[in-house]
Amino acid sequence: MSKVTVCDHPLIQHKLRVIRDRNCGTKDFRMIVSEIAGLMCYEATRDLKLEDVEIDTPIARMTAKQLSGRKLAVVPILRAGLGMVEGMLQMIPAAKVGHIGLYRDPETLNPVEYYCKLPADCGEREVFVVDPMLATGGSACAALTMLKGHGCRHIRMLNIIAAPEGVARVQKEHPDVDIYVCAIDERLNDNGYIIPGLGDAGDRIFGTK
Ligand code: PRP
Ligand code: URA
Repeated sequence: MSKVTVCDHPLIQHKLRVIRDRNCGTKDFRMIVSEIAGLMCYEATRDLKLEDVEIDTPIARMTAKQLSGRKLAVVPILRAGLGMVEGMLQMIPAAKVGHIGLYRDPETLNPVEYYCKLPADCGEREVFVVDPMLATGGSACAALTMLKGHGCRHIRMLNIIAAPEGVARVQKEHPDVDIYVCAIDERLNDNGYIIPGLGDAGDRIFGTK
C-alpha cells in the first residue's frame, strides 16, 4: 500500500491558508504554489540516497556527502502541475522535466489525454509527478499508467490538496506510488471539486477565469 505523507510543516500550512482564500489573486497564487512545491520537494526527497566523497575545503581535506542513486525527473500534469515545476527545480535543479497533458471532461469527470513528452531515460529516473489537486484521482491514475507504460518504476506523487476519494483510488490502482500532500480535505462536491479545496487550480494559476 502506498504511503501518504501529509506535509504539515508550519510554513507550508500557512502558505496553504493564503492560497485557499478566494481573495488571493493570480500573482500571489502562482508565486505561493511554487513556494509550496519547493517545500514539498524538501519533504519528498528526504530519503534520497547519499554517498561519501573526499573533497578539499580551503582549510582541510574531508569526507562530505553528495546525492547518489537514481537521477531525478519532475513530471507536471498539465496545466495546473506547471505551477509546481519551478519550485521543484529550485530544490533539484539537475532534474529533467517531462509533461503529461490531461484534462477532466466536465461531464464525465474522466481524464482526456492530449500530450505526453517524457525524458528518454525516464525509466531509470526517480519520477516526481506534480499536480496541485488530487480530486477523483482519475487524472493522477491515468498519468501514473502512462508513466509506467514508458517504463517508469520509481514514482512519487506530490499534490497540494487531496480528496479522500482520490487518495483511496491512487492507493488502490497504484499501491507502489507514495503520495505527498499538504492537506486531505473533506470530500468532493457533485461537480468533482474538492470541498473546501481552493477552487480550480489551473484557472487560479493562469488567471483564466
Ligand atoms: C485539475 C487538476 C488535476 C485534476 C484533478 O485539472 O489540476 O489534474 O483536475 O481532478 P481528478 O483527480 O478528478 O482527475 P483540470 O482537468 O481542471 O485541467 P487544467 O489543469 O488544465 O485546468
Ligand atoms: N481540479 C481542481 O482544479 N480543483 C478541484 O477542486 C478539483 C479538480
